[in-house]
Amino acid sequence: MSRFLDACYRRPTDATPVWFMRQAGRYQPEYRALRAKYDLLTMLRTPEIAVQVTLLPKALGVDALILFADILLPLVPLGLGLRFVPGKGPLLERSLRTVDDIARLQPFPIEEGLGFVLETVRGVRAAEPDLPLIGFAGAPFTLASYALEGGGSRHYQRTKTLMYAHPDAWDRLMRVLTEVTAAYLQAQVQAGAQAVQVFDSWVGALSPAMYRRAVLPHLQRLFSRLADLRVPRIYFSTGTAGWLPDLRSLDVEVISVDWRVDLDRAWAQLGGPERVAIQGNLDPLALLAPRDVLREQVHEVLRRAGGRPGHIFNLGHGILPDTDPDQVRRVVDWVHEATLAV
Ligand code: CP3
Repeated sequence: MSRFLDACYRRPTDATPVWFMRQAGRYQPEYRALRAKYDLLTMLRTPEIAVQVTLLPKALGVDALILFADILLPLVPLGLGLRFVPGKGPLLERSLRTVDDIARLQPFPIEEGLGFVLETVRGVRAAEPDLPLIGFAGAPFTLASYALEGGGSRHYQRTKTLMYAHPDAWDRLMRVLTEVTAAYLQAQVQAGAQAVQVFDSWVGALSPAMYRRAVLPHLQRLFSRLADLRVPRIYFSTGTAGWLPDLRSLDVEVISVDWRVDLDRAWAQLGGPERVAIQGNLDPLALLAPRDVLREQVHEVLRRAGGRPGHIFNLGHGILPDTDPDQVRRVVDWVHEATLAV
């Protein structure tokens, strides 16, 4: 079996598994060489290239691969149009502007709209049968924020205005996105993904009350719908340290936390190792620190995990483009060396 999958189910492992969010990307010279030839959407939509990029982190010694795709891809078949503008990040050509726009939104057949992602999943599994492959999707709130703001955002003004002023339209939007996300993750698992992670990168912008009322019920439905898949389900969010006990109501195997909370404290608030596995939570900026400082930070995370089964070492958010790949490799080695059962 695999260290990563065993840890998701809180079974003892020979060493603590480690992988990194955004482990395939611009910090790698091999990725940059491909990007010099193709634009991002071409790379994402061409299975041969996406398979190749998914496999790049193997050289780091990680214990799992994450599919090379993007959380925003489902917004294309939803009719919103997506471009990645260098220096500006993602931009939607037709963001949702009115309650009518939301009323018109319809789920789509996954194989038709996102078949190329499923093809990539099959390609990775055929090329690498030994390392588990993690599929993923954006969480409904985080997707909704892009669909409404038209790109990244600082204050989430359109999103929160809709939530406060038009709760029925918000609810309809969340239902459509939950439906699409559930079908998309089911299709990824059918194509061969061995675990799924749901990225709620920006949900920390909400108040706890708003999260409980307008987001949590949709996440509960999403994860319940994934229960039959019998693969580990990981919920990732940032900025949610203020309401971690609420996440206990999610039917998931793993919760991924950011660096704004101590890992042991977060784990206790989530119900402890008896209830759920935990993933995290090194600050991605620690990878830019001097080697000794990085080592100390890695050990701090491991100390808080305390060698208890059910810890998956990761960052609290994605690897930044300025990161030196050698630092990433060191972290993998240190985590394995420090936790190897003797
Ligand atoms: O290695 C991996 O983690 C797998 C691939 C992956 C990408 N995006 C490829 C990508 C994953 C898991 C994502 C998820 C994603 N995409 C999230 C959730 C995770 C997070 O970081 O919060 C979000 C919010 C997005 C949306 C997105 N995609 C943004 C905001 C940007 C531009 C900013 C940035 O970081 O570059 C992207 C582009 C993107 N997606 C790149 C990659 C490798 C950079 C592309 C490039 O210019 O070459």
